[in-house]
Amino acid sequence: MATIYCTATSLDGYIADDGESLSWLFATPGHDTDPQGRYGDGESLDFDQFLPTVGALVCGASTYAWVHRELTADGQDFVWPYEQPSWVVTHRDLDLPDGVRAFAGDVRDLHAVMTEAAAGKDLWVVGGGDLAGQFADVGLLDKVWVHLNPVTLGAGKPLLPRRLRLHRERIERDGQFTAMLFDVVGPEPRRDGDVDGAAEVYAEGGP
Ligand SMILES: NC(=O)c1ccc[n+]([C@@H]2O[C@H](COP(=O)([O-])OP(=O)(O)OC[C@H]3O[C@@H](n4cnc5c(N)ncnc54)[C@H](OP(=O)(O)O)[C@@H]3O)[C@@H](O)[C@H]2O)c1
Repeated sequence: MATIYCTATSLDGYIADDGESLSWLFATPGHDTDPQGRYGDGESLDFDQFLPTVGALVCGASTYAWVHRELTADGQDFVWPYEQPSWVVTHRDLDLPDGVRAFAGDVRDLHAVMTEAAAGKDLWVVGGGDLAGQFADVGLLDKVWVHLNPVTLGAGKPLLPRRLRLHRERIERDGQFTAMLFDVVGPEPRRDGDVDGAAEVYAEGGP
């Protein structure tokens, strides 16, 4: 069982633009729409294969609001799009559909409840970035899986506003996306007072 933050991001590290829109994401051709087809060494970072491995998921209040807005834009009744037990972290009094529960507070408590509900499967942190950061802060974020888009946004909602060291486990091309799976190593310390070591690197021919 792993706790995985899986999301799409712009090249400059935003998961939503400054208008909370994802139009830039849906304009990016993936393997289904890219005329040049799929590249890479397998389909292990295919989102469609990820979803069945998820036993429970959580998103923040803004992400939930976005999903609700999008899925009711044409006047339809709101149906939560995931079958797995789901949580929204919020202080708001939301009218949530069946299968979706509200939680407020320390994510360690939530993690324990989600783990039980997931029955051995993975936990998906849908976003936003600070929510993933809250799990990382208490050592409960195992993996970060990003689908990197070749677009820059300049401003927006940050991917993961923490100092963390990651270790890349896999990388694949998927149309215009670059899918990358990382293990979370831990907090990236500040090394104030240290020289950066650039002189040595340049002496050896540059970075
Ligand atoms: N690119 C992608 O694939 C992707 C994926 C996910 C999300 N998104 C987008 O990214 C944006 C994310 O927005 P966001 O960064 O504002 O984050 P968010 O995590 O969706 O929402 C943040 C809100 O969640 C509530 N919250 C967070 N932690 C909490 C806790 N421990 N207890 C109780 N409530 C808590 C707070 O709202 P209240 O206190 O007001 O309730 C907080 O303001 C959205 O627009 C979403 O659509 C994109």
